[in-house]
Amino acid sequence: MNTYDQLYIDGGEKAVQFPSPHYVWPLVSEECIQEVHDYLVERKPLSISDVSGVVEELEELIKDYFSSNYVLTTNSGSNALHASYIALDLPVGSEIIVPVSTFHASITPAIHCGLTPILVDVEEDNGNISPAGLIDAITPNTSCVVVTHLWGHPAEMKEIVDICKQKNIKLIEDCSHAFGSTYQGMKVGTFGDISVFSMQASKTVPAGEGGFLITKHRKYYERACLVGHYRGRSITDVTDPFLKQFAETGYGLKYRIHPLAAVIAKHEFAALADKIKHRDKYVNLLNEAIAKSKGIIAPSVRSHVTMGGHFGYKPTFVENQLFRKGKAITCDEYIEILGNEGVEIHRPSVKPLTHMEIFSKDYVGLEFAKDTWRPILRGPFVGCDKYYKNLLSLPPFISPTSKEIVESYAKAIIKVSNNLSNLEGE
Ligand SMILES: Cc1ncc(COP(=O)(O)O)c(C=O)c1O
Repeated sequence: MNTYDQLYIDGGEKAVQFPSPHYVWPLVSEECIQEVHDYLVERKPLSISDVSGVVEELEELIKDYFSSNYVLTTNSGSNALHASYIALDLPVGSEIIVPVSTFHASITPAIHCGLTPILVDVEEDNGNISPAGLIDAITPNTSCVVVTHLWGHPAEMKEIVDICKQKNIKLIEDCSHAFGSTYQGMKVGTFGDISVFSMQASKTVPAGEGGFLITKHRKYYERACLVGHYRGRSITDVTDPFLKQFAETGYGLKYRIHPLAAVIAKHEFAALADKIKHRDKYVNLLNEAIAKSKGIIAPSVRSHVTMGGHFGYKPTFVENQLFRKGKAITCDEYIEILGNEGVEIHRPSVKPLTHMEIFSKDYVGLEFAKDTWRPILRGPFVGCDKYYKNLLSLPPFISPTSKEIVESYAKAIIKVSNNLSNLEGE
């Protein structure tokens, strides 16, 4: 027993009594296992180069969901992003504006295309790219803006789309965290010239490894096909006479989704609405507990958006509201205290890009990057620093069986608040 336990123990019991880990994802239901099993037993193809079989079925589901004209599944979100940068045919050496808080793969494929990422500040309440920061960063050399809907909270798409239209700049949405999130009633993914989703195992629609892009524009789709879907699909789907010449080889890369991953993704996509329903229920439960508690505030969700799948649950620690022996506790102490109550809580695992070597060092000594890799940091990143300073991360509970665990988390948050909020001056 440590000092924190002794301070606010009631009856010597931790609030959360469930064995770890509390969150297991992907769940991989019996039905899903059966579908993969049947696929193998029926000796269905394990490589699909055209648009047929389970790849076609998955892409039809995605098309319907987004009312999108074109869908291209890939073997990862990173590679869907790579295909998108090439599909937009952005001039080598041009600048792409990106939020400083995103996953590195939102922009590393762009660097491999000879584009220069300009990292700009984000909004302090949700970590998304700030339209004001975006406008400031635009130069005559700007070719594209990349928006990530961080942890599932949509960025300010109306302003961003208007800016891109006015300035004739292309827009990519990285929706990897935001399956089913909406902005002013419209699904994210429907605003960009091209939008990308990762279906890596931790995402709301997991394939194990996988991803896809969607677009309304035939020419972007055809160019994206050529990047990593040579022969079959490029031969049937690339119609532009100039591009068609390359259909046999494409551009030499291979980004097709594995059919077994497509089987899993199809199953998981069909369950998306149900997952979001459970997710919302659990988020409400935690939000209600937090509303009754000191030292923590719920993630801010703007009134004109909805959160879809969420990627983690990210409340914020509030300083100077909880005390131990008369002294205000820090964010790290709060994490430790809730951890002692059995809550699986930590700082977010994805840090702002400024914390990563790849974006903060120069590339002297790396021959492949010489003279081409030049991400530019357009700091200061005041919004980002404020957003991340006391950000917490709890599991993104989503399965129908997590209700009791989530209730015990709510209990733990209230318990810590009750025990530590009135010790000031002791
Ligand atoms: C915002 C974002 N973009 C892109 C990716 C890359 O996706 P993948 O891991 O499928 O390549 C991720 C993965 O976590 C992500 O979080």
